[in-house]
Amino acid sequence: MRHFITDNLLLRTVESETDIRKLIDLCNSVFSDTEQPDPRIGEWVSALLTPGNHPTLTQDNYFLVEDTTGSEIVSTLNVIPQTWTYDGIPFGVGRIELVGTRKEYRRQGLVREQFKAAHQRCADLGLPVQGITGIYWYYRQFGYEYALDLGGRCHIALNMIPETPASSPFNLREWQPADLPRLEALYAFSIRKALVACQRPTEHWHYRFAGQSPQSIQKQWLYAITQAGKIVGYVIIPLDCWGSSLRIAELVTDVPYPDLIPWLLPRLRDEIPARFPDADPPLKGIDFHLGRRYPVYPYLKCYQPVLHAPYAWYIRVPDPAAFIHQIAPALEKRIAHSPLAGLTRSLTLDFYTSGLRLDFEEGRLAAAANLPRGIEKSDGRFPPLVFLQLLFGYRSLSQIFHSFPDAGASLEVCTILNTLFPRKPSWVVELY
Ligand SMILES: CC(C)(COP(=O)(O)OP(=O)(O)OC[C@H]1O[C@@H](n2cnc3c(N)ncnc32)[C@H](O)[C@@H]1OP(=O)(O)O)[C@@H](O)C(=O)NCCC(=O)NCCS
Repeated sequence: MRHFITDNLLLRTVESETDIRKLIDLCNSVFSDTEQPDPRIGEWVSALLTPGNHPTLTQDNYFLVEDTTGSEIVSTLNVIPQTWTYDGIPFGVGRIELVGTRKEYRRQGLVREQFKAAHQRCADLGLPVQGITGIYWYYRQFGYEYALDLGGRCHIALNMIPETPASSPFNLREWQPADLPRLEALYAFSIRKALVACQRPTEHWHYRFAGQSPQSIQKQWLYAITQAGKIVGYVIIPLDCWGSSLRIAELVTDVPYPDLIPWLLPRLRDEIPARFPDADPPLKGIDFHLGRRYPVYPYLKCYQPVLHAPYAWYIRVPDPAAFIHQIAPALEKRIAHSPLAGLTRSLTLDFYTSGLRLDFEEGRLAAAANLPRGIEKSDGRFPPLVFLQLLFGYRSLSQIFHSFPDAGASLEVCTILNTLFPRKPSWVVELY
């Protein structure tokens, strides 16, 4: 894949060891929070591009722009293929990551050009959805809408955590490969109720927790929680701290929280200084990065927590009709389990610059089609892309109507849309 954007700016994918070395240099400086390069970023890039290390990312998915006058790499992004589920139905996602341009080359449309290439790559790979976690507003320009919770946390100050209990049946130890079947089962249990979730195949566990150097910005420690030698849960601690807080990226257990938490919190508090002896600023708290609501939160109340609202995933669905076809069994189940069972009805939704027609026959989705701009008679209307918020259970229909005066539908259609697309929490762990 090679394409000149201008006479000297060449858009292509990674081709050589030299490219990887230059990309590492670029990323170390572009993504650094300071004026100094941050080698932890390059460690991550290296983990992504070391042949055979990452389960799904190949050099063909790693885009760059080269200034051919000096053979310098000046801009980059990549696509990490993964599988998510919608009410249990798998679908492919291209996660866009490490989007950056050298300062002197910004605002020349280099990222815009790479997004076009990345979107084409997703189409070629059969990934119907793209997702990105990133800076405010920017990715809206490329057809993305905020449509899933990202993060959300419960903060506890270390000094609110009492002393470690004298005795406890639990133990915390680093994971071993032999633990994986049990850890995977716990993960599957933790996402069973999520509308949208991310599959994490075995190879991804290995990459995530063994394929990153301890110096990588994406290094995460995975600990098994054991009781009488058996694994009863796990906890994931990323390397990166948020200010002076340590992050808990995942906490999954099948023992009751009231038994576990009074031991786990002091245990984590004690683990922190060992893991982060040079933390600057010194760690003062633990952030349970477990979303807007998580079953453990009520059991943290006695530690005077502070809750922080989530940010959001940017989501792109270039062909909504095809995606709706893919998740049709979920929609049909919702109809079958409602007073609308056996629904026979066509719905025309106007998105102002495009639209969607859904034909239901006896409760089955018989057809779904994207429509061009200029719909004369519709059953419901949403500003461009806002429908994605409904589709992914991020906002309820009434929340959308409340926020967007140019969204609306008849009462009868509202009943159908509420049945088809209820608001429902999702839990999408980040695979990168
Ligand atoms: C954000 C960043 C990637 C943009 O790169 P870029 O090559 O300048 O992007 P483009 O020129 O292709 O941007 C496309 C459009 O967005 C505009 N734009 C660029 N940076 C923008 C920003 N931060 N906010 C809003 N719009 C921006 C461009 O002017 C261009 O508009 P136009 O097509 O109407 O002229 C770059 O500033 C960067 O590397 N920042 C530091 C790293 C970073 O924050 N990466 C994102 C992590 S999620």
